[in-house]
Amino acid sequence: MDVLELLKTRRSIRKYKSTPVEEEKIQKCLEAAQWAPSASNKQPWEFMIVTDSEIRNKMAAIHPYAKFVAESPVIFIPLTDPTIHQDYHQSDTALATMQFMIMAHALGLGTCWAGVINKPQIEKEIKSMLNIPEKLRVLAIVAVGYPDHTRESNRKNLEKLVHRETY
Ligand SMILES: Cc1cc2nc3c(=O)[nH]c(=O)nc-3n(C[C@H](O)[C@H](O)[C@H](O)COP(=O)(O)O)c2cc1C
Repeated sequence: MDVLELLKTRRSIRKYKSTPVEEEKIQKCLEAAQWAPSASNKQPWEFMIVTDSEIRNKMAAIHPYAKFVAESPVIFIPLTDPTIHQDYHQSDTALATMQFMIMAHALGLGTCWAGVINKPQIEKEIKSMLNIPEKLRVLAIVAVGYPDHTRESNRKNLEKLVHRETY
């Protein structure tokens, strides 16, 4: 599949098969995340992989928009470290997360990002549940697994978004 086709066919998946995800595929997705660009190449990220069903159920219970993590066999959790780069830790880690998601799609896996960074109570509960060190922030929880539905999506018209030379 060409790159544009890959990008256009990735969808946020909210229903998953129970089929386990192969460890080699998770490893490839992690490597894709690892190779994201970052400001001054500081790489202000760490990554967690959670498969335990009890934890997944607890996470689904505390995040109102991430019920699907109870079903997805894997959760990818990108952590950011503001002490490594105060200004860019979130944007860098978002890029790494996107690379994970694109790689997952290329391997036939579905993903769905559920935001955490702006939800202090949920972030606190996740940190406590997973023993995440105080200095790290939880950017998101990302469901990963084989899709059990297909979805349509849409985007704003490019002609209305693009300004050339001057606005
Ligand atoms: C920062 C961010 C936060 C998101 N949070 C959620 C969320 O909490 N729950 C959810 O179901 N989807 C979430 N999404 C997925 C978006 O709803 C989805 O990307 C958008 O509707 C476009 O659909 P598509 O990804 O299938 O093209 C989030 C996406 C981003 C980038």
